[in-house]
Amino acid sequence: MKCDVLTLFPDILNAYINESIIKRAREKNLIDIRLYNIRDFTSDSYRTVDDYPFGGGAGMVFKPEPIFRAVDFLRGDGEPRRVILLSPQGRPFNQLAAEAYSREKQRFVFICGRYEGIDERVKTLIDEEVSIGDYVLTGGELAALVIIDAVTRLIPGVLGDERSIEDESFSWGLLDYPDYTRPREFRGLNVPDVLVSGNHKEIKLWRRKQALKKTMALRPDLIEKIELTVLDKKILSDIASEEDISDDID
Ligand code: ADE
Repeated sequence: MKCDVLTLFPDILNAYINESIIKRAREKNLIDIRLYNIRDFTSDSYRTVDDYPFGGGAGMVFKPEPIFRAVDFLRGDGEPRRVILLSPQGRPFNQLAAEAYSREKQRFVFICGRYEGIDERVKTLIDEEVSIGDYVLTGGELAALVIIDAVTRLIPGVLGDERSIEDESFSWGLLDYPDYTRPREFRGLNVPDVLVSGNHKEIKLWRRKQALKKTMALRPDLIEKIELTVLDKKILSDIASEEDISDDID
C-alpha cells in the first residue's frame, strides 16, 4: 500500500505509524506512507484552512483552496492516485474493502476532514468517500489510521505467520472461534479436550461450529451475508436442535 495522507494533525498519525507492526512494515518498504500538513498549502499569512458557511449556520467549513492545492502538488509527480475523502457520509469500510485496498497498485490519497464540514467542491477532486462507521469523529485522522492498519496487516510479509490471516474469522465472514493457550487448566477453567486431541479434522470442525454459534448469537446479520456450505447448514441445524434440547431441560 502506498498512500499520502492530507491532515491538519500529522502528529496524530505519526504516533501510530511509528510503532509496532506498521513501523516494521514501513522499515521493510512493504508500505509507503507520507504525511502532509494541509496548512502548508494555504496562501495567507494566517495559514487559514476554514471559513464561515455561506447561508449561515453553526460551525466552520473547510476551505477548498488548500485541499485542491495539496492534491495538485501530489499529482505533480505524474503518479496515478486514488483520492479518498474520509467522512461519515462515505461508503462503509469493511474487511472486503480492506482486502481490495491491499491489492491496489495505485497510490492512495486520504483526505482527513475537520470542522463541521468540507466545501462541497472538494467532491470534484475525489474518487471515493469512505466512512469507518456510523458515528461522527472529530476528524478523519482516526479513520485514515483504521484503514491503513486494516490494509497493512493483509499485505504479504507484514505479519509473521501468513496462516493467521487465512484462518481469521472475518475472512470467512464470521466472528472468531475461541482461542486458548497454556496452561491447560487455569483457575478451574479447562481448555476444550478437542483442541488437545491432535485430531486436526475434529479441531477444524469444532472451530467452524464455534464461529457459527458465536456469529448466530452476536451477529446474525453476518450469517445472512455469507454463502453457507452444506456442512455449515448441518452444523447450524445441530446447534438449533442442541438449543431446543436445552430449552426443554430449562
Ligand atoms: N470523519 C468523521 N467521522 C468519520 C467516520 N465515521 N468515518 C470516516 N471519516 C470520518
